[in-house]
Amino acid sequence: MRLLVKNIGKIVGIETAGRLRLCGGEMDRLETLDDAWLLADDGRIAAFGRMETLGEMAADRTVDAEGGMLFPSFCDSHTHLVYAGSREREFLDKINGLSYEEIARRGGGILNSADLLHETSEEELYAQAMERVREIAAKGTGCVEIKSGYGLTTEDELKMLRVIRRIRETAPLAVRATFLGAHAVPRSYIGRQEEYVELVCNEMLPAVAAGKLADFVDVFCDEGFFTVEQTARIMKAGRKLGMQPKIHANELAVSGGVQVGVEYDALSVDHLERMGEAEIRALRGAVTSPTMLPGAAFFLGMSYPPAREMIRAGLGVALASDYNPGSSPSGDMRMVVSLACIRMKMTPAEAINAATLNGAYAMGLSRSYGSVTVGKVANFFITKPIPSVEFLPYAYTTPLIRRVFLRGEEYVA
Ligand code: NIG
Ligand code: FE
Repeated sequence: MRLLVKNIGKIVGIETAGRLRLCGGEMDRLETLDDAWLLADDGRIAAFGRMETLGEMAADRTVDAEGGMLFPSFCDSHTHLVYAGSREREFLDKINGLSYEEIARRGGGILNSADLLHETSEEELYAQAMERVREIAAKGTGCVEIKSGYGLTTEDELKMLRVIRRIRETAPLAVRATFLGAHAVPRSYIGRQEEYVELVCNEMLPAVAAGKLADFVDVFCDEGFFTVEQTARIMKAGRKLGMQPKIHANELAVSGGVQVGVEYDALSVDHLERMGEAEIRALRGAVTSPTMLPGAAFFLGMSYPPAREMIRAGLGVALASDYNPGSSPSGDMRMVVSLACIRMKMTPAEAINAATLNGAYAMGLSRSYGSVTVGKVANFFITKPIPSVEFLPYAYTTPLIRRVFLRGEEYVA
C-alpha cells in the first residue's frame, strides 16, 4: 500500500542523522520542511520532499493535508493503562486534604486497583484497556509502553500481561510490555515485604519470562514502597531473564532509585520529582533515560522535575503520561507536552523531542519510531492548519489533531 500525503504545511521532527536520542542543547532543535509531501510504502516512510519536487507520483491512496502540519506520533514510554474501573473516590480524598502517600498507607491506592483487577475478567479488562488505547491513538500516540503491577499475585500479574500481549496483537500502535510486580506490597504480605520480593524474583519473574510476556522489569523504588537494595535484587533477577530495567524513582523522596537504576543500566528512570545534584550527575553519560511524568505532578499537586537543570547538564530527557487511575488518569500526550512547557519551562521543541524520539528511546524503539525518517514506521498525525509549531502546546485544549496514521494507514477510532 502506497500512501501519499500532499500539501503538508510543515513536516516537523525530521531526523536524518540517525540519532537514537537527543541530548542537552540538541533537544531545542526540531528539523522541519515547509510545503511538503510524504510517501509511505508498506507501512514505512519511503520518501518526503518539497511540493515543487512532487511531479507524478504513483500511489494507492492520496491524502490532502490541506496545509496542516505533520508530526511524528507521540511515543508514550510509561503507562499503566491496563486497570479495572477507576479511583475517583481517592480524587475526593485528595481534594479533602489527604496525600497520595496517606491514601496508600490506609490501604487505598494501588491496593484498591489490585482488588478491582482481581474481580475483573480478562475479557473485561481487555475491553476497558482497549477503550483507553483507542483514546490515546486518536490523541496522537503511536507507541506505548504498558506495565503490569495491579495484580500483585503471580496469577493476576500474568493475567495483566496477557491482556497487554493481546493489545499488542490487536492494536495498530507499537506496544512494549513491562512487568511491575514490585509496584506495592499486597495486603497478604504486609509486614513480610522481604518474602514478597522473594516471590517476585523466584516465582513471578520466571513465570513472566517463560511466557515471554514482558520486555522490561520495573520496581517502585521509593519511600514506603521498595528499597534500593530490593530494587537491585529484582533488577538483577530480571536482567538474567532478558528483561532490561525501567525504574520508578524519586517521586516521593530522594530514594537512591536514580543511582541504582544507572548502576544496573536501566533503560529509564521515571518520575524524578525529587532530584538533587548527585542524581543529575549520575545520569550524565549513562544509557539511562531520565523520564518525566508531569501529568502525575499536576494531578497530585507535587513539585515538577527540574527539567531545565537536567537539559543544562546535557541529559536527553523524555516525557511520558504515566496514564493510571491513581496519579494520572490521562494519557493525553499533548497535555503532557503543554505541561512540560508551562510548568517545567521546556521549549516546545524540547518538549516535542522528549515526547517523540526520546520517548521512543526510553522504550527501546527509537530505531523504528519517534521521528520522520525514511525507513521508520509511518506513524504520524496531521493537524489543522496552525500558525506555528509552538501553537500546538500553546492552544492546549483545542482539538488540533485532524487525522492520525499508524503503519501508513489512516486510524479511525
Ligand atoms: O507511576 N508511582 C507509582 N505508580 C503509579 C501510580 C499507580 C497508582 O496510584 O495506581 C505512578 O504514579
Ligand atoms: Fe508509573
